[in-house]
Amino acid sequence: MVATLSAKVFTALQLALAVLSPAFTVASREHQQPLGVDHTATQKRVTWDEHSLFIDGKRLFVFSGEVHPWRNPVQSLHLDVLQKLKAAGFNAVSIYFHWGVVEYERGVFRWNEIFDLQPFLDAAKEAGLYVIARPGPYVNAETTGGGFPGWGTRVEGLWRKSNRNYTEAYKPFVKEFGALIAKNEITKGGPIILTQVENEYSGFGDGVEDFEYEWELLQDFKDAGITVPTICDDAWLGGHFQSVDIYGWNSYPLGFDCSHPEIWHSAPPDYFYNLYNSRIRKHGPKSILELQAGGFDGWGGAGYDACGKLIGPEFERVFYKGMYGSAVKIMNLYMAFGGTNWGQLAEPGVYTSYDYGSIIREDRRLRDKYYELKLQTQFLAVSPAYLTSTPWQLTESKQIEILKGTRNIVLTVLEDTLDLHTKFYIVRQVIAVYPFVEANWQVPKADHKLELQARDSNILLVDYKAGETHIIYSTAELYTWKEIDGVNYIILYGDPNEKHEAAFKITEPKDFSVLSTDEEEDWSYQIDDAILTVNFSILEDGDTHTIKFGNTVLLIFCREVASKTWILDTKPPTIVKGGYLIRSANVEGSKLHLKGDLTQATRLHILATKTVKQVTFNGKAVDTQPATDGWLYVMYTPELPDVKLPELSKLDWKRANSLPEIYEGYDDSNWVTASNTYTPNREKPAVKEVLYASDYGFHSGNILWRGHFTASGGEEEFWAVVQGGQAFGYSIWDNGAYVGFWEGDVTTGRHRCNFKLPKPWKKGDKHIITFLQDHMGLEENWTAATEHFKAPRGIFDYGFKGAEPKLIHWKLTGNLGGEKYLDIERGPLNEGGLYGERQGWHLPGFDDSDWKAASPLDGVKEPGVTFYRTTFDLEVPSGLDYPMAIEYSNSTGSYYRSQIYVNGYQFGKYVNSIGPQKSFFIPQGILNYNGKNTLAISIWAMQNEGAHLNSLDLRILGKVEGGVGPVKNSPAPAWSRRKNAY
Ligand code: GAL
Repeated sequence: MVATLSAKVFTALQLALAVLSPAFTVASREHQQPLGVDHTATQKRVTWDEHSLFIDGKRLFVFSGEVHPWRNPVQSLHLDVLQKLKAAGFNAVSIYFHWGVVEYERGVFRWNEIFDLQPFLDAAKEAGLYVIARPGPYVNAETTGGGFPGWGTRVEGLWRKSNRNYTEAYKPFVKEFGALIAKNEITKGGPIILTQVENEYSGFGDGVEDFEYEWELLQDFKDAGITVPTICDDAWLGGHFQSVDIYGWNSYPLGFDCSHPEIWHSAPPDYFYNLYNSRIRKHGPKSILELQAGGFDGWGGAGYDACGKLIGPEFERVFYKGMYGSAVKIMNLYMAFGGTNWGQLAEPGVYTSYDYGSIIREDRRLRDKYYELKLQTQFLAVSPAYLTSTPWQLTESKQIEILKGTRNIVLTVLEDTLDLHTKFYIVRQVIAVYPFVEANWQVPKADHKLELQARDSNILLVDYKAGETHIIYSTAELYTWKEIDGVNYIILYGDPNEKHEAAFKITEPKDFSVLSTDEEEDWSYQIDDAILTVNFSILEDGDTHTIKFGNTVLLIFCREVASKTWILDTKPPTIVKGGYLIRSANVEGSKLHLKGDLTQATRLHILATKTVKQVTFNGKAVDTQPATDGWLYVMYTPELPDVKLPELSKLDWKRANSLPEIYEGYDDSNWVTASNTYTPNREKPAVKEVLYASDYGFHSGNILWRGHFTASGGEEEFWAVVQGGQAFGYSIWDNGAYVGFWEGDVTTGRHRCNFKLPKPWKKGDKHIITFLQDHMGLEENWTAATEHFKAPRGIFDYGFKGAEPKLIHWKLTGNLGGEKYLDIERGPLNEGGLYGERQGWHLPGFDDSDWKAASPLDGVKEPGVTFYRTTFDLEVPSGLDYPMAIEYSNSTGSYYRSQIYVNGYQFGKYVNSIGPQKSFFIPQGILNYNGKNTLAISIWAMQNEGAHLNSLDLRILGKVEGGVGPVKNSPAPAWSRRKNAY
């Protein structure tokens, strides 16, 4: 019935519901249904209430990390990233899909090998992670068009709006992707638990939230077979798209300028009260569907290590714990692994690397912040009371009472609303020394105060049940507790030299022993009324306090040791102290098989079930010694052999001119004639002819234009208004003579030029103006009900001074075939319009024997585009993970742009005058680690003196033994003659 409501009635209904739903009441089930969609429980496996999600009736904190499968074209590397998330304690991964790459030609869906999502979904399942599917249609994601297809620029009207042209355009996509999601839902044995139907549907060009569009999208996904709960991430707590099942929002508190990584310009937001005070009427689990976990970096930016520093371990401590203070129960970190904008995936704002400063680097190595996060995920995983906790609304006087004598500290107390016992005191920020008060107790009882470092946050526990052990309170943080063979191991941690106090209920006062400890001054205890109170300072250098009472063993670690302690899912659990990464454990009788990655000789301390006597590491037996108190001890020295790398600058290089188009004899008859005089684009050109590349099916990479003119005589200057997106550049020739260039800068996406022609034109002469322009990707379309992504790439306007020649026609080309691209394997965006790309010179197997011997370090002495090719072999033994990068050195001076192709895949775009990226990571699987590799480099020299590379190296970025196992090379079909290549 509701399905037939008009948009107007629908809006009125929604408003009425909003009024009826007062703050602080829990939304009724009815309100949680998508308005207008019959959602009568089609599945029962994923449910929710106002506190949390349930899977199969069991509450969980959804701790998810964002990964974009299409930003890593090597399918067999996904498992590595996903296992790393699992080892960090994540239980879910969130993925955007990319409509634009699979339906590059309208109506033709290509799920060929590297874009097939099934292997990723299977790997997530194998790693033991749930999946939050975020198909779009719109995704943003700093990718070209925000995920919209290039042909969409020719679909008239507003996008992300109930404009028929647009909804007809997205429907086949939703049907295709929806079916894929439906097939992989948890209900069918797959990993998908939630589906996002739009992205940040929050800002509207026409100022109107289009409920009809929301309804239609939900209905379309449902028709495609989706039954798991739907979500949509509001860009802020704005109350948009509340007709999805679970309302959620995004949070990027420190923004995207990584250039001052030491400066925090904001404190953690207090969402809980804002939420209830705002116009949000859907009170499902508090869900931050994107929480800042790094930042994207733009052309000319500070580089990703700066972003990793800005959003580093301290940020994780203060801001994420701030989120727990807001009782958040679904949290997705954007990005957990950023990947690469290989082959033109970027939107104009960003460059090739999409490392994001995440916990897992673009090259899959772990940043320090990975380990801090593990402390939090593991704590939440063993703290069911948190899942039903809500914060107290602390009045200022109550805060003062609790925090006697303190200043500049923020405190939130979360209390379990179901058992009304457990409390989580979350204190954060600003240097301070504080006591806290619980009921009538002053904590700590000992004669010291608690310290909170600047930029830190601690979660103090009160009445916390660690299995059978009742923690009355602890001022040190809890990492985890695990029962192994009837003993309950509880790990508390803090920073070295901090003093802490913890109290436990005990049944038998005599049953207390200190198993290992150091100087007595570092700890003391007291037993009163069946309460054991322990005071301790946190030791440095991996020394631990171990205290036993009843069946409990209390382990007190410093932060560093706790964060490098791995909790493994065996039955009973296994705890491994030490190591860069322990991925998995498996007990087989007396053997414990560990799989992991080590970068250096490492001592591992292992707590496993007592049957275990022998440990293997990555399949190799290791000398296993019993240590004290049930721990086992192994020492493992990884084998990290040297690998011979080619000296790229010394290889035999060949070179060919890749810009024959500027010469008079060049035949452009196979190029597309830019004969349109009408464009569906809202932005109309100033000249009669439409010179927008996307109108002719070219959406990425370099674009070439050739304007054929007959001179009237006396033309002296040429001017034009050209658009290519931020950081784009162009060069212009007149019958082979260089006219001029624009080298680009960080902010200019549209540029106006005015050049003197090399020679004034003579009446009747034929002239060809050749324009080579960079295309930095299509714009995003963050604001709904706009057409921003259609911003043309091409020439808006041009003219001559001195005289006006007669236009014969304009011709253009981008990648060979346009939307009917040739290289189906490497995908639609990999090639641009350079001559060398159209001919396939970047591909392995092209015969360059008649090319001239010359290297990119020699370069050329004139403006133009040159292609360089070479090959080299690699032999990297298996069982190692040695990520590699191709590196340029700083080369200011003459302006140039360069692209790097490895075995045909474009994996780097360099602009020497803008930067910042000079090191281009090339994943194993694109680089063939066991055999031959073809490396091609294009150099577009913009100035008369030409250009050359100053250096060129292949470098190993890090060495680990372990890794994900055999890596299958991505398809790299060899060159074959391209019919009609021009
Ligand atoms: C969000 C958006 C993401 C991404 C992020 C910044 O607003 O939803 O797709 O663009 O910002 O990296």
